[in-house]
Parts: sequence; C-alpha cells; structure tokens
Amino acid sequence: MNESKLTLGYSDETFAKPFRRLRRTRMTEALRSLVRETELSLNDFILPLFVVPGKRFRKEVGSMPGVFQLSVDELIRECAEVKALGIPAVILFGIPEHKDEMGSDAYNEHGIIQTAVRALKKEIPDLVVVTDVCLCEYTSHGHCGIVQGNEIVNDASIELLAKEALTHAQAGADIIAPSDMFDGRVKAIRDILDANKYLNIPIMSYSAKYASGFYGPFRDAAESTPKFGDRRSHQMDPANSDEALHEVEQDIIEGTDIVMIKPALPYLDVIRRVKDRFQMPTAAYNVSGEYSMIKAAGRNGWIDEPRVMMEVLTSIKRAGADIILTYFAKDAAKLLKEKK
Ligand code: PBG
Repeated sequence: MNESKLTLGYSDETFAKPFRRLRRTRMTEALRSLVRETELSLNDFILPLFVVPGKRFRKEVGSMPGVFQLSVDELIRECAEVKALGIPAVILFGIPEHKDEMGSDAYNEHGIIQTAVRALKKEIPDLVVVTDVCLCEYTSHGHCGIVQGNEIVNDASIELLAKEALTHAQAGADIIAPSDMFDGRVKAIRDILDANKYLNIPIMSYSAKYASGFYGPFRDAAESTPKFGDRRSHQMDPANSDEALHEVEQDIIEGTDIVMIKPALPYLDVIRRVKDRFQMPTAAYNVSGEYSMIKAAGRNGWIDEPRVMMEVLTSIKRAGADIILTYFAKDAAKLLKEKK
C-alpha cells in the first residue's frame, strides 16, 4: 500500500495528476511573506543585562562580545537606548559588592538590584523591568541556595528567595523571575508578594531549566561559577522532557504567570510540548552559550551572523515561545526596524 495514502489520505488518482508544486508560493518575497507562519516581533524580546556596583563602569564580558557589565548610571543609558529601539523589557542580573554564605546582599534593600530597579523605574518608568531571583551571584560558594554539608538545601533556601523577591517588588520590579529550580519556590514567592499586597506583580518562573553547559559565558558575566560541585541536584537532566511537563505543571499549580524553558535551542522540542500541553504564556531563554557560539563563528567569518541570529530566534518562536530572552535583542531589533 502507498504510504502517502495512509498518512495524507490522498487517493491514487490524485497522485496520478500533476504533483503539488509547493514551490509556487516561494517564488517571490511578496508571496513568501504572504504565507509566512511565524513573524518575529520586537514585542517578543527581553534583553538580559548585568549590573555592577560603581560609577561609569562599562566592561565587556570576554566570552560575550557586545555584552557588558554596567554600573547603574551606565545601565540607565543602556536602557534608554533599549527603549528607543522599541524593546519592551529587560531582565536584570546583579553582581554584588559583597558575597557570603547566605547570599545576604540578594535580599538587602540597598543591594545592587534593588538600587538599579529604583533608579530605572524613576528614569524610564515604562520599560518593563524583570528581576532574576537567585542566590548564585550572591553566595561566596556560588550555589543557588544555602549549603549544608554536601547538600544544597531546599526549604531554607526558598525562604531567602522569597525575601529576595519581596525586596525586588518593593524596589519597583514589574515581573519577578525565579531561576533557582528549587521545589516550592513559586508558592513561597507568591505567598510573600500577596501578603505584602503585591497582588498584581506577575511571576515568570524558570520552570524547565536544564543543567546545561551552555551557561558557561553567563557565569563569567555574572561571576557566579560554583566553587565546588555543580547544579545537577536542582536543575534538570538534559535527557528528560516528560519531567519538564511536571515542572511546568507544578509551577502553574503554585501560581506562576509565565513559564520558561531554558536553554532554548537544544530544547525546542520541550518548548513545543509545553506550549501544546498548557497553552500558557511561554518564554524561552536563548542563553549565553547559544549567543557566544554564533558571535564567535560570525567573527571568524564561518557563518553569516545576522542571518543565523534571525533564523535561530525565528525557530524559537516557531517552536512555541511567546517571549524570547536574548542577548541578541538589540541586534535583532535593529534588523527588524531596517526591514520595515
Ligand atoms: C541563575 C541563572 C543562570 C542563568 C540565568 N540565571 C546561570 C546558572 O544557572 O548557572 C544563565 C543564563 C545564560 O547562560 O545566559 N541565576
């Protein structure tokens, strides 16, 4: 039996006729754009930014060309440009003055993120400010929570993450984004926000975050490499995707508003499954390693960087992401504007 008959239900007579010419709608750019299924938009992007203490400080991250550690004054300048380009949102990562075992600068109301958010909301009020909630940039050991013996403990850590989230909300953050992957943290954060009357601040949780080699350059940028061990006791095993559905479902039960899959490219299948299953607002994080590989190959002349960038971003959206966190946001925004 003819296989196509089985899958598409065409009769043999149909196949005897002139074959379908799927190329017809590809012949001109006008036709191609008429039938295009996925359109990237500026409204999809969130640009990650790294904030450091000090003034007039702007230092490029060695492994991430075009990405800088910025002091608050430089952050404001950068965000004015981001806003002017039409990018709706940024996500902030902080590098604190001081690190200790409890990551106490993470929930210090005068910490780097809290200070940066207050300044940003004052200067550029309508730029959406997302704050990453984690302890790894703030702990002396570089882990995302409290370490006891050989264990990164869960329940005591989520209490601190909730405190951190509250200080971000108090500073004026628009969206809270926990990236730790501990159990129960979305509920802990929702509870503390609600108890303090921040009923309308959404949570965008890193729901299916994998223990990935693609975070390498980020850890240079955020100075958050663990001093011992790794993150495999809380981040997901790259081999699993059913488990990602459980992680996402659990975050939804606990009250998340936007679910995130991270990294993006090696997990496009997971993005699609999550979108199909839950139809939630879905974000994907096109992480540092994904960015740096394209930058490096582009600089070597091995690939056409702008073209590959747009292809990758489009593929993430095609897979089902509504929101893309990407270091390419400014480059892509410029290209999208040129095209118009
Ligand atoms: C943790 C955090 C990480 C990233 C975002 N939030 C690093 C990690 O889990 O080690 C990685 C982002 C990237 O690679 O671009 N606070």
